[in-house]
Amino acid sequence: MAFMQWSRELDTGISVIDQQHQRIVEFINELAVISATSRDPNEVNRVLAMLIEYTQTHFSYEEKLQERLDYPFLKAHRRVHDIFRRKVDEYQIRAQAGEYVIPELLHMLKEWLAKHIKGEDAHYVEMIRRSLGNPIGTIHLAEIEI
Ligand SMILES: [Fe+2]
Ligand SMILES: [Fe+2]
Repeated sequence: MAFMQWSRELDTGISVIDQQHQRIVEFINELAVISATSRDPNEVNRVLAMLIEYTQTHFSYEEKLQERLDYPFLKAHRRVHDIFRRKVDEYQIRAQAGEYVIPELLHMLKEWLAKHIKGEDAHYVEMIRRSLGNPIGTIHLAEIEI
């Protein structure tokens, strides 16, 4: 069983956002597999770097989307992203210094991501849904592509 399972409660209902979140979960699971098998520091650093880069891309996407939609809590959302970025950077520094931080990091990533998706992300998604007249089912963002 994967370290972090995708569950329906993590679905925001916006396809592009859900795909990006699922990709982050895949990186977390990839890291968990390495942690449970080889623990090769090069592999750890490689996957961790990809996870960080992809997460940055996702955060930028969300922030741009919120900007486009005049989301009133953009500043607060960005701050939450920034705090997370700094937290992960600290783990990366410790990992590069030779400390084995992966189990602790994995735990943090899993907890943080689920909480953020169900909390702050669900909040802005709710606003998008409302601004589109509460459509039923999955939203494909073609009309507000950024
Ligand atoms: Fe977010
Ligand atoms: Fe997100």
